[in-house]
Amino acid sequence: MSGSNYLCARERMLARIAQTRETAKAGLPHWARTTDGKWTFTPDGDWTGGAFVGQLWLAHLADPQRFPISDARAALSRMLPRAQLRTAFKGFGFYHGAALGSILFADEMARDAALTAARSLEQMFDPKLGLIPLGQDAEEANAVGTAESSIDSLQATGLLYWASDQLGEQRMDEIANAHMRKVLEIHVRPDNSVIQSSTLDPQTGKVLRTHTHKGYSDVSTWGRAQGWAILYTAHAAMVRPKEPLWREYAVRVLDWWIDHVPTDLVAYWDFDDPAIPNTSRDTAATAIAAAASLRLASALGATAGAKYRDFAERTVAKLVSEYLTPVVPSDERPPGMLTGGCFTRKALARDIDTAHDAELIFGSYFLFEALAILTGLVTMGRI
Ligand code: GLY
Repeated sequence: MSGSNYLCARERMLARIAQTRETAKAGLPHWARTTDGKWTFTPDGDWTGGAFVGQLWLAHLADPQRFPISDARAALSRMLPRAQLRTAFKGFGFYHGAALGSILFADEMARDAALTAARSLEQMFDPKLGLIPLGQDAEEANAVGTAESSIDSLQATGLLYWASDQLGEQRMDEIANAHMRKVLEIHVRPDNSVIQSSTLDPQTGKVLRTHTHKGYSDVSTWGRAQGWAILYTAHAAMVRPKEPLWREYAVRVLDWWIDHVPTDLVAYWDFDDPAIPNTSRDTAATAIAAAASLRLASALGATAGAKYRDFAERTVAKLVSEYLTPVVPSDERPPGMLTGGCFTRKALARDIDTAHDAELIFGSYFLFEALAILTGLVTMGRI
């Protein structure tokens, strides 16, 4: 795909962000119907809404007149009550929704919000488990136990590494490292595929069972489990270049993805759903893998990273050509939606997560982030 095509896709996504901003008057977007682009909102953003705030920071960078910084700040203010919730997943929202505002614009409100959430995550670390458990408020199933973990909980780490750099506090780094090590040890299988979840003994941290909250089965590979593993190992490789373990893990789990993704580069929602090819894709998992691949390319440098930059570019091109809604006046769907996201097909999902073919706000964030990098708006390795 040429540079001008990336720019056109970025423009289409900006139009969708502007349209979402106009309708998001009482909450933050979670997912939208593919048929007409209508959003389901949550009042405080759930674990997903920080992705929209992240889009607004990037949109401000792209077009400050059309997207004043007050848009991002107003959206972030909706998330503030979440900073103290007991959930490992707030690392996702407060990295993209808050730390990003500090990284890109030295925004003080964003920095304070991100540091508050990071401090609370630090306090959630459980030495007996050797990790940060999902937490009693985790937005995963209707209830999770006190000693439940998942690969998704790596979402805590990007925020902790950033906060540790801001505050010069070694303890936050040590907690992020310990959490990374233990979560990867439990959930990355010997063949480099990833299982989503685990239940631990609360006294000893021993793994009692591995399972899945959102994948097809306890022995399958859910697309976003692999996606989150790739994203956060690649992110850690990028921000902690002296630690070879994160690079090694990132190469292992991303190479697994590259070897198993269909030839059209868009993952099914679960790599082992027996109904393939008659089942859902997950463009969100795919966008996560593309954004992660750019991080790993940055961590490895121009020569060793070329394979991953190329993979990211080809994946983004497929998402744009096959799943990003075009500008067609007679189409009921707004232009710039990333369709084909599957929250989960698991029957036990929360009611607000039962979307099989939707625009998922975090999938759109990662495609937009990748386009921001590929168009030169943001330097690779900066976010
Ligand atoms: N728990 C994060 C996800 O659903 O991808």
